[in-house]
Amino acid sequence: RGPRLEQLVNICPHPPYIRNMKEVPPSDNVVFMIKPFRYDQSKPNDYPFSINGPNRYNDVWNEHYVRMPCSPLYVSKKTRQPQWPIFCQLLLQLKQKCDNRSATIDDLKNAIETFAGRSYNIDSLRFLITESFSAEQRSYFMSAVLANICTLALNMDILCSQPPPLLRSGSNRSLTMSQQQAASLLAASFFCLFPFRSDGKAKKEYDHFQNPNFNTLYQRGPPEKIEKLRCILHYFERITAKMPNGVITFQRYSLHHQDSPKWAQSEKGIAPMHLTTGKRIEDINCVLQVDFANKYIGGGVLTAGCVQEEIRFSICPEMLVSLLVCEAMEPNECIHLIGCERYSSYKGYSATFQYAGDYVDNKPKDNWGRKWCHLVAIDALYFRDQTTQYHMKNINRELIKAYTGFYTSRQTPDCAYPVATGNWGCGAFNGDKQLKAIIQLIAASQTVRPLIYAAYGDKYLIESFSVVFDHLINQRATVGDLYRYLQEYSKVPSPPSLFEYILRTPAKQLRS
Ligand code: AR6
Repeated sequence: RGPRLEQLVNICPHPPYIRNMKEVPPSDNVVFMIKPFRYDQSKPNDYPFSINGPNRYNDVWNEHYVRMPCSPLYVSKKTRQPQWPIFCQLLLQLKQKCDNRSATIDDLKNAIETFAGRSYNIDSLRFLITESFSAEQRSYFMSAVLANICTLALNMDILCSQPPPLLRSGSNRSLTMSQQQAASLLAASFFCLFPFRSDGKAKKEYDHFQNPNFNTLYQRGPPEKIEKLRCILHYFERITAKMPNGVITFQRYSLHHQDSPKWAQSEKGIAPMHLTTGKRIEDINCVLQVDFANKYIGGGVLTAGCVQEEIRFSICPEMLVSLLVCEAMEPNECIHLIGCERYSSYKGYSATFQYAGDYVDNKPKDNWGRKWCHLVAIDALYFRDQTTQYHMKNINRELIKAYTGFYTSRQTPDCAYPVATGNWGCGAFNGDKQLKAIIQLIAASQTVRPLIYAAYGDKYLIESFSVVFDHLINQRATVGDLYRYLQEYSKVPSPPSLFEYILRTPAKQLRS
């Protein structure tokens, strides 16, 4: 429904904004873990170098940076000895066993438990490797792939050459790294090498951060958890076969209070919209895709969750680096992930989710060397009591959140490419699809971005939203009008559905 997707995205074969992203000089808020790098299409095999060169690790051990396992200041609580030489010795021993094809799942479990200094149930990992993998898959994983994960973890000081800064709440900071650096950080997560964030003093420092170690993912759990793990092991298999040579960026964006729109006074027209039931958000290219996020980015990806955000992070595991660096989001914040590659196909959803084989991601790269994948994480409110979502306080919160997410990446290219979203906040978070559709239409219109509404499989919503959209266009409705609809609707006792209310009420009537 609506204009054709191609018209909105302006694909011919790729829109010009794909290649040319603004150069941004490094600063406190624009951090590069790589040397200046310009991607040249004619030299696709060039790769970025780490910022300090191969033989220098510049350590920082404080609350503004990730506390790295390779830091000389990371010491054992009991012996006060630095942990890294001990970790390296263990990793080398495990790698040797992998090289000799004698490594077992118990060797892996023992290594992880020694790194973490505690015992773990790794039943999901054990089941996947020992029972679900074929003999051939198991043997390849326990030799070549596991050896490569050891090497990546062993080389994290050389590859990263400095700790990534934390993207703390309230900051407008971005972090750019190579896919190889991301791989070495993920190898450390795989072995649970990062200092625990829930212990003692760290608990306070990391109160609003995710646990970046994979220990919870390895624990016993339902079949879909094993499938998420399968996707992540597939990622390690792919990068063992060939290390990707691109670049990725994590950017936190906080909207200043004074930049919040005055919704009721806005005379911006309604954005063009394309409605589709046939495509999932991740399958729509050249757009800003929306992650239906948790304020703790990644949500339950390393625990039991298996809905839109968790699935996305499992099929694009480089996104998991955001769990390491991002503090929880405030209502006026979003996190923009750029360049993360997709490695897995999938089928099913939630309890029926399954890895469905390799995925070759052919997206073009921008001049920074990042695959053209832009994802913005915005967390909706969870409504235990659905009626509270119509209170203006909550509507205003959701409007600011969607606006912040849709606004952010307009600053990078000079044009606002479309945003692809759908039933944000309406699954696990229990929101009303019609209300969220109007909220997102307001946010897209205010940021002057075409809206691609991908309510996968939800034919009823697409049809009814399409009727309401036409009705709004026919009335030349503005953002201000849409906001007034919400204000008035929130006052109606036992109201009809929001769409019905809009269809019954002329916009003009609300203007007076
Ligand atoms: N493309 C388009 N629509 C989709 C897709 C997709 N790939 N996947 C799901 N939907 P949900 P929420 C539709 O529940 O309510 C996570 O744990 C589908 O109709 O993921 O915002 C996060 O970490 C689904 O019902 O988003 C948060 O904690 C609807 O989108 C929490 O869930 C909503 O998807 C966020 O929950």
